[in-house]
Amino acid sequence: MNHPAFGGQVTLEAPAYIKHRRLIDWVQHVAALTKPERIVWCDGSQEEYDRLCAQMVAAGTLKKLNQALRPNSYLACSDPSDVARVEDRTFICAKHREDAGPTNNWIEPAEMRATLDGLFDGSMRGRTMYVVPFSMGPLGSPIAHIGVELTDSPYVVTNMRIMTRMGRKVYDVLGEDGEFVPCVHSVGAPLAAGQADVSWPCNPTKYIVHFPESREIWSFGSGYGGNALLGKKCFALRIASTMGRAEGWLAEHMLILGVTSPEGRKYHVAAAFPSACGKTNFAMLIPPAGMSGWSISTIGDDIAWIKPGKDGRLYAINPEAGYFGVAPGTSEKTNYNAMATLKENVIFTNVALTDDGDVWWEGMTDAPPAHLIDWQGQDWTPAIAKETGRKAAHPNARFTAPASQCPSIDVDWENPAGVAIDAFIFGGRRSTTVPLVTEARNWVEGVYMAATMGSETTAAAVGQQGVVRRDPFAMLPFCGYNMSDYFGHWLAVGDKLEALGAKLPKIFCVNWFRKGADGKFVWPGFGENMRVLRWMIGRVEARAVGVDHAFGVSPRYEDIDWQGLDFTREQFEEVISVDDAAWRKELVLHGELFETLRHRLPDALTQTKTAFEGRLRA
Ligand code: OXD
Ligand code: MN
Repeated sequence: MNHPAFGGQVTLEAPAYIKHRRLIDWVQHVAALTKPERIVWCDGSQEEYDRLCAQMVAAGTLKKLNQALRPNSYLACSDPSDVARVEDRTFICAKHREDAGPTNNWIEPAEMRATLDGLFDGSMRGRTMYVVPFSMGPLGSPIAHIGVELTDSPYVVTNMRIMTRMGRKVYDVLGEDGEFVPCVHSVGAPLAAGQADVSWPCNPTKYIVHFPESREIWSFGSGYGGNALLGKKCFALRIASTMGRAEGWLAEHMLILGVTSPEGRKYHVAAAFPSACGKTNFAMLIPPAGMSGWSISTIGDDIAWIKPGKDGRLYAINPEAGYFGVAPGTSEKTNYNAMATLKENVIFTNVALTDDGDVWWEGMTDAPPAHLIDWQGQDWTPAIAKETGRKAAHPNARFTAPASQCPSIDVDWENPAGVAIDAFIFGGRRSTTVPLVTEARNWVEGVYMAATMGSETTAAAVGQQGVVRRDPFAMLPFCGYNMSDYFGHWLAVGDKLEALGAKLPKIFCVNWFRKGADGKFVWPGFGENMRVLRWMIGRVEARAVGVDHAFGVSPRYEDIDWQGLDFTREQFEEVISVDDAAWRKELVLHGELFETLRHRLPDALTQTKTAFEGRLRA
């Protein structure tokens, strides 16, 4: 039956074009549990997207923005209790606790299934259950994988259409028996007969649950970002990391960029930073004026799936098709390409609304507008902000935008074969201690640096902000298995590539965030990071010079091109120096991490720590 209000196929029966019996049975099984009023089998078409947006505008979930200023774009404002990923409600339910490891929340799978059965029983009553087929990665790519999300949130459906390759074509790839990751999502707010809905339904009880052995995801209670768009953190990182471990590949919290020299030599770099530490900005960087011969192209801004090729090189794809980026701080100055990407076809979440129907957030312009409606629907003026400290946009406000709209998009961003990686970069947000850039002397020392990375927490997750926590590989919230085994997997991948006789990608550690005595960032960051990237590419080409210190190799002042930037030798010293006393303390913290992870921690890492301690003493 084609229902005029909902379009698509509104029936328990699947449309004839779906030939996958197991998938249909699973949808019917979940429907029997969650008891939605109707099922919509999404086809991913523009008409479907427009219809859902219109429906959400009528329901008050979305506001349509000024069509002339921001065509085909919408603003969603969430419930104030549902604004970020909930790490303490995120579970890895492996059969054995040690397979989830000490950094993940674990509950025994049968116990968790019983809890979920209770929560999901009737959880979609009065709502529509949408069946959302999606491919993470270009359809049919040997690096891509498929998922199907069942959700009672039209906001999730429309975001998934931007963030993934979503729709009917996925069923052609799946055929009659293809593999897919089943993802079930409910906002956990059933409607009784005649009960009025709210604009952002959610539930104070939240569970973001992964079953790595059966490769399933169940998410309850939140409609926000990584909690609800299950292709992203849940599938593309937590479940995919376990798939990668079993199958010999890597699923990483990394941007991917191309960097081309004035002579036309092109390299590909994958870089891991914790959430809200500038991955999107780095992926879309525009080199400063003095370096006009260099260019950066964007392959991905958040996640990389990386598989070894027969030639011993690592090939990466961006499994996503859009950006779910942090809005505050994004401006024409900090990220021109992101602002250009946001011109149309965007869903904004928790930013402020201007009086002419456009959006604004802190940092977008030097001077704020005279009046706004803030993300909580209240009047906002600069005077109110000064008096109360209230932000117009939530610090974790987001934009969801199609990657294809990015002016710096790489020609190969949809290449099913991926791009060959020449270097990995790992970076945390550290006001002290960690130098601007360090090259690891070898793969094992690089893995050590990434494994011991610390970073100050941000608004991307619920919890205290600005405290240093160890965030190995920027994967602490995203690794779907035991972190020590994950380190072992990285070491094993290095061994495997070496055995194939390949030149391993170089590994660098960076820190854009060191502060001076005045509490201000010393390094200008953003486009100026190109100077550091250029040194790294010089090292890949075995041309650039650096000096050895206890932890690796870093550039001297004269090894960086400073043309067009007034940055003194003294300032450089402030961001590059290795302070022995600070590093002694840092190594104690590495020791604490290793103590937490001691079960199955690879010996190579403890040996590397001992070697670093020895070098520091020397
Ligand atoms: C994200 C995150 O949304 O890391 O990318 O939180
Ligand atoms: Mn992220």
